[in-house]
Amino acid sequence: MHALDKWIKENALSRKIFANKLKISVASLSRYLAGNRIPKQSIMEKIVFHTDGKVNPSNFYIIKNNNTVSFNKYKNDHLLGIENLKEDEISSLLNRADEIIKENRLEPSSNQKYRGKTLVNLFFEDSTRTKTSFELAAKRLGIDVINMQIETSSIRKGESLLDTAMTLNAMQPDILVIRHSLSGTPHLLANKVNCAVINAGDGQHEHPTQALLDALAIRRRKNRLEGLKIAICGDIAHSRVARSNIKLLITMGATVNLIAPSTLMAEGLSDYGANIYNNFKEGLSNVDIVMILRLQRERMQGSYIPSAKEYFKFYGLDREKLNFAKNDALVMHPGPINRGVEIDSELADDINRTLILEQVELGVAIRMSVIEHLLYNLELKK
Ligand code: CP
Repeated sequence: MHALDKWIKENALSRKIFANKLKISVASLSRYLAGNRIPKQSIMEKIVFHTDGKVNPSNFYIIKNNNTVSFNKYKNDHLLGIENLKEDEISSLLNRADEIIKENRLEPSSNQKYRGKTLVNLFFEDSTRTKTSFELAAKRLGIDVINMQIETSSIRKGESLLDTAMTLNAMQPDILVIRHSLSGTPHLLANKVNCAVINAGDGQHEHPTQALLDALAIRRRKNRLEGLKIAICGDIAHSRVARSNIKLLITMGATVNLIAPSTLMAEGLSDYGANIYNNFKEGLSNVDIVMILRLQRERMQGSYIPSAKEYFKFYGLDREKLNFAKNDALVMHPGPINRGVEIDSELADDINRTLILEQVELGVAIRMSVIEHLLYNLELKK
């Protein structure tokens, strides 16, 4: 039920009486309540006045028009991973991000659709791109953002993760974005809190918004995902980016080749349909995209490579190895990059061959799309 209908009922009024207070027809009021039209400023002010602010602009943001048709496909309360997402759900998230870019919505929002909504960033692991782009995405939608400072929070006094989450939940945020070194943490929280939870990276498990922004970058350059051949190279064993990308790209009809030394290859990924290679020449043959991964030393226990120099010789991408791929193959990297370890520094800076900065830029649009979908679904549940 719409928040205003609920308020009207709770105050023993009718739509007709409330429409009279606004000096509009019942038909106009019904259009607002059906989400077919947003009240203009003067009407909105009267609604806020008569309801004592209980009903405000944020209650009117569901716009049912052709632009938001893709919203219908993503029905989940959270975004915890790519696992189990269907093609149309992934397309819905990608399409909305494309619309946001087309609408030039990457400027700060002047509309009030999401006023009063709050997003909390809860990052237990370091981040530059993901944390900042969630903050930017929310701010560009007009959403309030709270960046929890873990190092100065009560977690340092021994408060558990779940108690912290329940405390934040009591403050009634709309979205909780979490990154944690333990796989499954976002799933655990999603079972405890009332708000929408977004996984911003959990251990070696998943990093769904990274895979979505990677897919968007590929689709915008190659006009499709289906039928493309994509190589993911490097430290696959410790990579949540690889796991989310493998699932997404195969679901969308791409072929995925994984290239890594046997010490850095994870087991079980061929079950998803990925092809496994130990050398670049075979793995890069005829590929459209080469996705390079960082050596994730923070998750390594023990020695996986003889030395960084040796690793670069066999598994670092340079122009010579890139020649094994298609002539127009593009290079991607989720960042942060280690120059001279997994990628040649000069190649990393070649904007004609790499999408690295474009990936960062598209991250904001993807996160805006994810936030909008989840807020839409939260609103429908009310
Ligand atoms: N790609 C990525 O997750 O980067 P950050 O660790 O900087 O967020």
